[in-house]
Amino acid sequence: MLRDHNAHSIAPAQSAPAAQGYSPAAKWLHWLVVLLVLTQFLISFLMPEIGPNTVPATLISLHFSFGVLIFIVMVIRLNHRLLHPVPLDMPDSPAWERWAAQAMQLAFYFIVLAGPFLGWASASAHKLAVNVFGIIALPDIAATHARWALTAGDIHAYMMWVFLVLIAGHAGAALYHHFFLRDGVLQRMLPARRK
Ligand code: HEM
Repeated sequence: MLRDHNAHSIAPAQSAPAAQGYSPAAKWLHWLVVLLVLTQFLISFLMPEIGPNTVPATLISLHFSFGVLIFIVMVIRLNHRLLHPVPLDMPDSPAWERWAAQAMQLAFYFIVLAGPFLGWASASAHKLAVNVFGIIALPDIAATHARWALTAGDIHAYMMWVFLVLIAGHAGAALYHHFFLRDGVLQRMLPARRK
C-alpha cells in the first residue's frame, strides 16, 4: 500500500484525502485556542494559590471555566483535524525538525485533553465546585482530600508550566521559519492573501 510519508502523525481518516493547507475553520480554531490559552495562563498567574483552606474566588472559578472551554474547543479541533488531514509541509527541514514539529503537536493535544481532568480532580479534592461560567455545574470526581487527586493537581500544575515552555518553543519555531528561513510555514496558519 502506498503511504504519504509527509502526512501528519495524528492518524487521518482513511478515506479523506489530505488537503494542501489548513481550512479557514482550522485557522479560526487555532487562533481561538491561542487566545483562550493565553487568557488562561494570565488567570493562572493572578489567581490565589489553591491549598487546603482555599475558598471559592472569582479568578479560581474563571480558571475552571476557561479550562473546560479550552478542552471543548480542543475536542472540536481534534475532530476537525482527523476529518481534514493536512500534510506537514517542511520538505527542506531535517528529519529531526519534522519529528519535533509532530511530537510538539501530539504533546499539545495530550496536555490539553488530559490535563483538565487532573485539575478537575484536584478541584474536587479541595472541595471547590466546578461550575462552567455559572451555567453548567460539573459533579465532583474525587473525594475531599483524596490523596491521588491532590497529586493529580500537582501534576496538573507542572504539566501546564511544561505546556507554557512548549508553547514558547512552538511560537519561536514558527517565527524562526518566517523571519530566518523565509518559508511558508507560518503563512499556512494565517488568513489566505487576496490575489
Ligand atoms: C488547558 C486548560 C488549563 C490550563 C492551561 C491550566 C493551567 C494551570 C496552571 C498554570 C496552574 C498552576 C497555577 C499556579 O501554580 O499558581 C493550574 C492549577 C490548577 N488548575 Fe488548571 N489549567 C487548565 C484547566 C483546568 C481545569 C479544567 C480545572 C478544573 C476543572 C483546573 C483546576 C486547577 C486547579 C485545582 C489547580 C491547582 C492545582 C494544585 O495546586 O493542586 N485547571 N492550572
